[in-house]
Parts: sequence; structure tokens; C-alpha cells
Amino acid sequence: MSILVTGGTGFIGSHTAIELLEKGEEIVIVDNLCNSKIEMCDKIKEISGKDFKFYKVDLLDRENLEKVFKENDITEVIHFAGLKAVGESCEKPIEYYHNNITGTLVLVDLMRKYKCKNIVFSSSATVYGKPKELPIKEDFPLSTTNPYGTTKLMIEQILTDIHKSDDEWNVIILRYFNPIGAHESGEIGENPNGIPNNIMPYINYVAADKLDHLNVFGNDYDTPDGTGVRDYIHVVDLALGHLKAIDKIRKMNGQVEIYNLGTGQGYSVLELVQNFEKANGIKIKYEIAERRPGDIAACYADPSKAKNELGWVATRNLEQMCRDSWRYTEKNLK
Ligand code: NAD
Ligand code: UFG
Repeated sequence: MSILVTGGTGFIGSHTAIELLEKGEEIVIVDNLCNSKIEMCDKIKEISGKDFKFYKVDLLDRENLEKVFKENDITEVIHFAGLKAVGESCEKPIEYYHNNITGTLVLVDLMRKYKCKNIVFSSSATVYGKPKELPIKEDFPLSTTNPYGTTKLMIEQILTDIHKSDDEWNVIILRYFNPIGAHESGEIGENPNGIPNNIMPYINYVAADKLDHLNVFGNDYDTPDGTGVRDYIHVVDLALGHLKAIDKIRKMNGQVEIYNLGTGQGYSVLELVQNFEKANGIKIKYEIAERRPGDIAACYADPSKAKNELGWVATRNLEQMCRDSWRYTEKNLK
């Protein structure tokens, strides 16, 4: 009996794979390596001290994906695989819809065929659009502003409809807030291609002298210091949320459940910069720039449903996230 981890060599998938292995779970990873590297498999094995099967397979390649189901007794799937860059999704909507939606459809069709009806899906706080109030609860209205976000919302709907048609399916939708940080070993972390879009890798590049300064996108938002507020969550805390979701899905009896995975605490861009400087003793040069189109002022979770029903809370603070991010970057980028 194994858990299939799609996208398991990616940023969140690799951290989750380690936690699953360390807990004693058997896992199988499928990834086409479009945004990760094969070396990640060795790192996961080294850190966890455990072995697992890896298939370099694209979810769109039904024939080879079917082999994974034939050769393994898959009992649950954690579905991370997908393209995730908001800006790129606006330039390449066809590629995003095809990869994320069709990939998921091929996956769930094979799950049905092989009678594995338990899926944990990586969704995002982006599905809340511009929230009407804060903190954000799971039953808030949903809307999206870019193709990436729309794929998340559509997949949530697809999984919900599958459950409606066959109530043997158990579906857990996890809406992540802003994952940052890295494994404390410093061996694995976030390594974006090109110039980073997200703030934490960008700050790390500035700290490493690969970029001159951080552009702070707007200081006139309706927030305490005018800069954008987000709910940053340590990727290891996020990974541990998936272990709780697996425990939960094994006890479920034909349900769809949605959980916010965040800390519940919002920090501004300037607070993040200050925490990074304090944690690592490195000054981060920044300049105030124009607002970034599509950004919202503030976004943070009400994570109480995950606490009450999964027994999960995030325990790592912002300084730790900054320390772990930098440890990884320093080891791997310079
Ligand atoms: P990532 O890009 O590091 O990992 C995704 C992995 O999926 C990569 O290794 C990539 O090679 C693989 N992949 C993509 N398309 C595939 C396909 N068709 N077949 C097989 N493998 C494929 O991203 P991540 O940050 O680890 O995110 C994991 C999931 O969480 C994604 O679904 C993402 O949308 C979601 N999410 C991420 C964030 C974030 O800020 N990182 C926030 C909310 C939600
Ligand atoms: N920011 C800057 N300068 C930068 C980059 C970001 O000031 O160079 C600011 C943004 O304006 C925002 C905050 O830092 O206020 C966080 O921005 P990120 O790009 O790191 O993250 P977002 O909240 O925009 O979006 C991220 C992912 C989405 C996901 C969302 C919620 O990119 O895919 O978190 O999980 F949907």
C-alpha cells in the first residue's frame, strides 16, 4: 500500500515526501521534472534515510501513468503536480489549462479504474480573490483573476463533482497561503528558474548579491505600514498538514473537506524584510515601487478548521522561515 505523490520532486512535494517517509509511509513519486531536478530524489532519500520508487512520467501521458497504478498498490494520492506561475499563466493559458486540468483528469480517471478514491489536492488562497473580510474562512466566496487561479478553482469543482457522482470518493482540498522557508538541513528548498516572482526567493537573491534591491510593490495599501500583508507559512509546517490530511482521509466515509493551511497571522512586506535582516544579520536594500497589477492589500487565513478537524497548527515563526530560507540559498546559490 503506497501513497502516490504527484509533483513530489517540487518545492512543497519534496518536503512532504520527507515527512511521509520519516513517518514510515510507503510512497511513490511521479514527476515530469518540468520544474524540478532528478537530484531531488537522492536528497529526499538522504535526508529521510528511506527509499521510494520514482517515475519520470507526465500526468498527460496516460499509458505510462497507468503503469504506476499497475505496478503499485496506490491507496491515496497527494496531487501537487501542476504549473504555478501566475504571470506565465496569463501568457500561456492553453498550456496551463491543459497541464493542470487535463493532467488532473487523466489522474482521476486512472484512480477510478484502479479503485483508489482518496485524493488530497493542492489548492491555493488565490481562489478567494479579493476577500470581503479577514481572516479568510473556507466558506468565503470564490473568484479568480488569472488562468492559474482558475485551474485551481476548476479542479476543486471537478473533484467535488466526482464525489457527487460517486460517494465512495474522499476529497481533501488544501488551500495554501504563502509557503516559504526550507528544510532545516539546508539541503532542499525553493529554487525558481530565472528572476524570482515571489518575494522570499527575491529577498534571498538580494541577500546573495544576485539582485541589487527588492522592489516593494506599493506602500499605499490600506494596511498598517501601507505594504502588502500575507500569511507566510513554513513549508515544513505545510508538509505536516498533508500528513494530517492523510490521517483524516483514511477515516473519511465519502466526503469532501476543505482546509485553509496558514498560520492565521499576517505580515507586511516591510515586516518580512525586517525579520529576514534580524534572523540572518544581512541588510536588505529595498525601494518602494508601483503596485503590482492583480495584487490585493491583505490576505491571511482563519486556520481554525484545520486545527479543530485535522489537529494541525503551524508552529514555525517568521524568523525561522527566514533563517531556513537563507540557509538553503546560501548553501546552494552562491
Ligand atoms: P513546484 O513547481 O516546485 O512543484 C510542482 C511539481 O510538479 C514540479 O516538480 C513539476 O516538475 C511537476 N509537474 C508539473 N506539471 C506536471 C505534469 N504534467 N506531470 C508531472 N509532473 C508535473 O511547485 P510547488 O510550489 O511545490 O507547488 C506544489 C503545488 O502547490 C502546485 O499545485 C501549486 O500550484 C500549489 N501551490 C503552491 C503555492 C506556492 O506558493 N508555492 C501556493 C499555493 C498552491
Ligand atoms: N512583493 C513585493 N516585491 C516582490 C515580490 C512580491 O513587494 O518582488 C509583495 C507582493 O506585492 C505581495 C507580497 O510581496 O504583497 C507577496 O507576494 P508573492 O508574489 O510572494 O505572493 P502572492 O501573495 O502574490 O502569491 C503567492 C503565489 C500564488 C498563491 C498565493 C496564495 O504566487 O500562486 O501566494 O497562496 F496563489
